[in-house]
Amino acid sequence: MSNASMPKIELPGIRNVLAVASGKGGVGKSTVAVNIAVALQMQGLRVGLLDADIYGPSIPLMLGVQGQVDQATTPLPLDRHGLKVMSIGFLVPPEKAVIWRGPMIHRALTQFLTQLDWGELDFLVIDLPPGTGDAQLTLTQTVPLSAAVVVTTPQEVSLIDARKGLEMFREVRVPVLGIIENMSYFMGDDGKKYEPFRSGGGARLARHCSVPYLGEIPIDARVAASGDEGTPLVARHPDSPAAQAFDRIAKVVRRELESAPAANPLPGLEMT
Ligand SMILES: Nc1ncnc2c1ncn2[C@@H]1O[C@H](COP(=O)(O)OP(=O)(O)O)[C@@H](O)[C@H]1O
Ligand SMILES: [Mg+2]
Repeated sequence: MSNASMPKIELPGIRNVLAVASGKGGVGKSTVAVNIAVALQMQGLRVGLLDADIYGPSIPLMLGVQGQVDQATTPLPLDRHGLKVMSIGFLVPPEKAVIWRGPMIHRALTQFLTQLDWGELDFLVIDLPPGTGDAQLTLTQTVPLSAAVVVTTPQEVSLIDARKGLEMFREVRVPVLGIIENMSYFMGDDGKKYEPFRSGGGARLARHCSVPYLGEIPIDARVAASGDEGTPLVARHPDSPAAQAFDRIAKVVRRELESAPAANPLPGLEMT
């Protein structure tokens, strides 16, 4: 389980490193990572976003920089929506599948985090690959994570894997700030609330595993459209219920890391 030969990277200029994880793919992990990062930025913090999802890097698409980065000439990390952004997808084009082994991941991360100019950051948000295999373990052991959040949908198949994710973080001693339930419900044109993936699963899992429940994100076509168009929902439709849910979660993340003994204090925070 331990990768003793792979030392942890030191990040003196970065105050908090937040991992966004999920047990399964397709639950909205990247959507959550991007929107929390932009929400923190809109709250006045200096934020970086690292897309470390080796299986399906999607941050370039979600921030509208897909295919626009020439590794030889583009200064990285990019500046986008006020964020510093780096993606493993800039290194390996999506159509070129690569089998990433532990040492390769370690090397790539070391390069991303120590050789690129991130400046001073209040938060670095990392979009982790889904699952709990060797790649994920290498990542969690290589990067000094302050904390993690786990994204799930309400349905059982997602919850089972989310629970494995929680257990992985416990094993590597990374505090889990809580569970975010995505795609919890949608409001129909008839004004009724629909719950296609059932309901209450995220809260139940949180209770069961004794971690906080950070809240639910509704299904909203604007979430998907904003992601595909390269401007995240919280920037594009800040008044939508989903954007406000992201904003609230970002505030809880700040408050929790601010009160954690290891974290440095952050600028004043008003809870709404
Ligand atoms: N709350 C939501 N409402 C509507 N669409 C969503 C929502 N969350 C995610 N999506 C869409 O679902 C798909 C999967 O989300 P993504 O963030 O890529 O998942 P993951 O990173 O877990 O694989 C994307 O097309 C995304 O736009
Ligand atoms: Mg993703």
